[in-house]
Amino acid sequence: MKKLVKNNVYWVGYMDWELETFHGEDYSIYNGSSQNAYLIEEGKTVLMDTVWTPHRDDFIENLEKELGDLHKIDYIIAQHGECDHTGTLPALMAKIPDTPIYCTANCVKSLEGQYGKNGWNFHVVKTGDTLDIGNGKKLIFVEMPMLHWPDSMATYMTKDNILFSMDAFGQHFAVAEMFNDCADQALLWKEALKYYVNILNPFSPMCLRKLDEIEKMNLTIDMIAPSHGVIWRKDPMQIVRKYREWANAYQEDRVTIAYGTMWNGTEKIAHAIADEIHRQSPSTVVKVFNVEKADKNEIMTEVFRSRAIAVGSPTVLNDVLSGVSGWLTFLKSLRFKNKKAGAFGCYGWSGEGNKILQTRLKEAGFDVIDENIKSFWNPEEEDFSKIPAFVTALIGTKEEETQPKPVKWQCPCGYVYDPEKGDPSQGVKPGTAWEDVPADWTCPVCHLPKSAFFKVE
Ligand code: FEO
Repeated sequence: MKKLVKNNVYWVGYMDWELETFHGEDYSIYNGSSQNAYLIEEGKTVLMDTVWTPHRDDFIENLEKELGDLHKIDYIIAQHGECDHTGTLPALMAKIPDTPIYCTANCVKSLEGQYGKNGWNFHVVKTGDTLDIGNGKKLIFVEMPMLHWPDSMATYMTKDNILFSMDAFGQHFAVAEMFNDCADQALLWKEALKYYVNILNPFSPMCLRKLDEIEKMNLTIDMIAPSHGVIWRKDPMQIVRKYREWANAYQEDRVTIAYGTMWNGTEKIAHAIADEIHRQSPSTVVKVFNVEKADKNEIMTEVFRSRAIAVGSPTVLNDVLSGVSGWLTFLKSLRFKNKKAGAFGCYGWSGEGNKILQTRLKEAGFDVIDENIKSFWNPEEEDFSKIPAFVTALIGTKEEETQPKPVKWQCPCGYVYDPEKGDPSQGVKPGTAWEDVPADWTCPVCHLPKSAFFKVE
């Protein structure tokens, strides 16, 4: 069954009530999800994206029922190559092999990489390209590289003023009534934030630049129709405003404590740190998680909201607990900004756990304090007595928070230009301000031009 979105635009996606994880086992889902595909029946019939492979038969059968004949589809738009939106394409194209597929150049690579070179009728589009769909309406394409894959794009439909935004502004959240104003608001915002943190946060600088670019296009937007979750119909720009806030090194007055423990010594320190934070700053919200038990996506959402984190692990076999180590790998990949971190943990033999935690937290982009709580076997009074100074260093003072942070410049590949270090490999001396780096200088890692860099603190 197709569901009306607006005028001649219909939802023909898959409401995935039973989905429990996404990206393999990497993203937990508690409130269902949807793969949103849309059918536009104007002078031309346009299929905007498809659904994931396991649902392809239902999807194609439904389209056949609605259209009578799949050959009525004039154009397919593939806004992004990931298989939750293209998994049906091979089966669909076997039935209508000549139908043009409009997508970015990177999406062609992605589709051919996943499904092979099948001779599909690709039409490569770039930002600003348009497609006439009849009845005086057209589609305008907007490339959205790294939001969240290199091949992603959005599509704006004129006259109906709908922005099909692909993954951006989405949520893993099943809402049969489809629209944001019909959804449970607490769950909607919880899922929208979790989605942003766990899928889009690494690309926040690109997100800010893309929001600026879309704003400059002066489009009237009446609806934002993402590829997962609700369609933003009531005040659609509220999610855009939220993305601006989230993309800008977001933080609240919160602290997250994340730890692993063997025989509960490190756990005791975690709880004592939580108590001390409340003693020093009663209004600060504190959350405590055993990272080996709790859902990592939910913890990361709390980390995102926090101004500081404390991470604990006992020293085990000259390292930290394997569960904490894996969690730190995920933490680094999400590229959080503007947050402090501290380390704590017990040891019985060698005791290098805290140093390892501090190094890995620095590598993950955190401003790591020197103070740490290192407890021989079980925490004793002497260890607990160090916690107040640890907490003071971690949550800082209001004066410290207002100090400006040094500005650096980051390449989309992850390399960071630090003016203090310069780039001696290309003759840029330490102490060279970004403005003085030659215009033809390129990223020493991936060779993107200077113009591709964005500012970070
Ligand atoms: Fe919903 Fe990037 O796929």
